[in-house]
Amino acid sequence: MPRFRRRRDSSRSARPRASTGFDRSSLSRDTVKPFELVKNFTSVALVVIFAGTILLSMIITHRARTVLLQKSEDYAKLLANNLNHQVFHKFVLPTALQFGRIQLSNELQYERMDRVVRSTLHGFNVDTVSLYDTHNVISYSFDESLVGKKGAGGLEYDQALKGRSTSRLYQSGSFLSILMGAPEKSRLKTFAPLYAEKPMEKVSGRLLGVAEITQDLSEDYRTIFWFQLLIVVTSAGIMGLLFLTLRFYVQRGEAILWQRAEERLKLEEQLSRAERLASLGEMAAGVSHEIRNPLGIIRSTAELLKKRSKDQDPAATRLLDVIIEESTRLNGIVTDFLNFARPSAPRTTSIRIQDVLGKTLSFLSPRLSEKGHKVRVNEHGPLPALEADENQLYQCFLNIFINAVQAMDEPGTITVDLFRDGDVLEISVTDTGAGVDEAILNKVFDPFFTTKERGTGLGLCLVRNIVEAHSGRVWVENAPVGGARVRMRLPAEDTL
Ligand SMILES: Nc1ncnc2c1ncn2[C@@H]1O[C@H](COP(=O)(O)OP(=O)(O)OP(=O)(O)O)[C@@H](O)[C@H]1O
Ligand SMILES: [Mg+2]
Repeated sequence: MPRFRRRRDSSRSARPRASTGFDRSSLSRDTVKPFELVKNFTSVALVVIFAGTILLSMIITHRARTVLLQKSEDYAKLLANNLNHQVFHKFVLPTALQFGRIQLSNELQYERMDRVVRSTLHGFNVDTVSLYDTHNVISYSFDESLVGKKGAGGLEYDQALKGRSTSRLYQSGSFLSILMGAPEKSRLKTFAPLYAEKPMEKVSGRLLGVAEITQDLSEDYRTIFWFQLLIVVTSAGIMGLLFLTLRFYVQRGEAILWQRAEERLKLEEQLSRAERLASLGEMAAGVSHEIRNPLGIIRSTAELLKKRSKDQDPAATRLLDVIIEESTRLNGIVTDFLNFARPSAPRTTSIRIQDVLGKTLSFLSPRLSEKGHKVRVNEHGPLPALEADENQLYQCFLNIFINAVQAMDEPGTITVDLFRDGDVLEISVTDTGAGVDEAILNKVFDPFFTTKERGTGLGLCLVRNIVEAHSGRVWVENAPVGGARVRMRLPAEDTL
């Protein structure tokens, strides 16, 4: 379990984090809210428009079918009138004169009737024609199998007998196809009375029979159905396109808002850190003076005592060593704390990173060899110079290497990779320790965060402060083969 040690933070108690920090959950709701409204409103609007379009297409196609039926009925009545005229003049009169009476069972009369009917209707859009006598018997039909059939006329026939032309639509096909308005077959049957004509008079003579004219409207119905489908598919396509465009813009808007909120969050965090640092700095300045001087006296007194005792009393010498070691450590802590609380601005000169590394490693070499660790420095290609504060970078490397040494219980290897990446010099330090637990990876740079018994938790915080003061970036990750890797990117001198 990591140990989170946080010292008393006066800035924190003066200004609680909730007021300066950024609440991500409220941020997400507030950020997305206006877009949620736009999204919901537009989605509903699109659905309503789509439903409206379907309704409109149904009304249009219904009207188209009504008009089609009306026109077809009128057309059939006109044909019936024409047929009446032609049949009376070209068949009834000549046949009556020649045969004395009309009898379609007579083959000659039937053929004459067939000629007259076919020549009259030639070129017109008619499927079948049947002629009924006044006793509801079919005496002539395009379909010869129907000739002689009794009582096939139905209600429409009765209406025609009373002098009224009526039509009826017959549809066949599956239930679904009829429901969708695209039946396999659609036929309009029109029954119209046939009269004897009086020459030179508008008034009709006696009723001769009834004509049944059947028109095949299947193709027209299919055309209307496809038209309706075209409207629906086109509007669905347009709605889909509108929806996708909307989603695209909403997502972009959300991304921009998120980005702004993230920037705000970063600024808030920076501000809060700066506030904390400022008040810590004030406090540290006073305390460190008070601590450092007596600490120096304690250490030098202990060293003096050790010299005087000249190893006569080994037990006392051991105790003096502990005092010297601990006061040195305490001095280091106070120095770290001072550096953290009152970071000085980098005093930059043109430096070679290899020189700083060399200095750090030679300082640490007794400790490294004591523990049996090896260090490998790999330079990948020519390296740029840096405009940096050599002392501060030295401090950075010291902290990173000490962390690496502390992380490796067994003798291990520290690998330093140096390479130029465009305008940047990248330095990565990889150790062969256990690596950093993923759960604390984002906390290792926090001030006073430590998992060590005797750590202050300021090492990496100092590293980050220094690197950021050099306009660079630093982060920690776990190497693929295990072990921690600290990566640092600093701007190369020639790009400054
Ligand atoms: N090389 C590493 N391997 C594994 N964990 C690491 C490594 N470097 C840092 N850490 C983790 O990050 C924490 C913070 O490191 P940091 O250097 O800031 O403080 P510290 O080493 O604990 O204390 P101090 O450096 O002040 O003595 C460490 O306690 C450790 O858990
Ligand atoms: Mg450390």
